Amino acid sequence: MFSKFQKASVKARIFLQNKTLVFTCFQKQIHMAKKTSSSSKIQTLYELCRKTFTPSGTHPSSSQAIHSVCSLLDTVGPADVGLKEESQDDDRGLGIFGLTGLNRAARWAQPLTYLDIYECDSFTMCIFCFPTSSVIPLHDHPGMTVFSKVLYGSMHVKAYDWIEPACFREANRPGSSRCYSLLRLAKLVVDKVLRPECGTSILYPKSGGNLHCFTAITPCAVLDILTPPYREGAGRKCTYYVDYPYSTFENGAEIIDGKEDNAWLAEIDTPDDLYMRPGVYAGPSIQV
Ligand SMILES: [Fe+2]
Repeated sequence: MFSKFQKASVKARIFLQNKTLVFTCFQKQIHMAKKTSSSSKIQTLYELCRKTFTPSGTHPSSSQAIHSVCSLLDTVGPADVGLKEESQDDDRGLGIFGLTGLNRAARWAQPLTYLDIYECDSFTMCIFCFPTSSVIPLHDHPGMTVFSKVLYGSMHVKAYDWIEPACFREANRPGSSRCYSLLRLAKLVVDKVLRPECGTSILYPKSGGNLHCFTAITPCAVLDILTPPYREGAGRKCTYYVDYPYSTFENGAEIIDGKEDNAWLAEIDTPDDLYMRPGVYAGPSIQV
């Protein structure tokens, strides 16, 4: 179990290191050419985040501070971050419905684009741009709070929180008689489609759907603020999971209220087919 944990974490670290290198080069080259504005919405958002968030996240922000960040994020649109809304008539993907075996493979082939806006010890600001049908698989945000604002398009979100006290069991993975998994029970708390008009959604360390999966129904983009950022050395490592309906391993498990909303989650290695490429943030630069 532990070696599997290490392997996933090494893969995730290599991905992040490569991303950091690429971005450092890109950012040095384009920084001077970017528009600068001390009064841009993204600059105001940055300054509010600096005032609000702490490196450890051990002192939770007040509900008023969280509300202020949400209110500002609610007003951010694609133009504020240098994005143009992608066409809704994207025929490369097929949404989350009606996927056949062939186009299921095709959805994984569509790369997501990751745009780094700013990162410090207290928070990360970034954007994910999704082609239709692309997926960020189920993953967690340990000890973190995450604000997400859809900038354009529509995106399906499925999110879980761990059931406490923790409920574990071991079982063969479906379809495998040899592969044992340690499964942990989680409760489904979000299963809906997000659009720009939905406003900002927030997940917390232990509530709001800390483990989530995104599927693009149309081309879409989401602005994320993660606080504190992922830091493997501080125990905040991104881990990926696969979810199984509660009934898959029901026999022998203790009865949990509302079990129809529950699922067993098994940790997996970082998916090899998670195809995420770095892009260049083209919005107003941030004056730090
Ligand atoms: Fe996430």
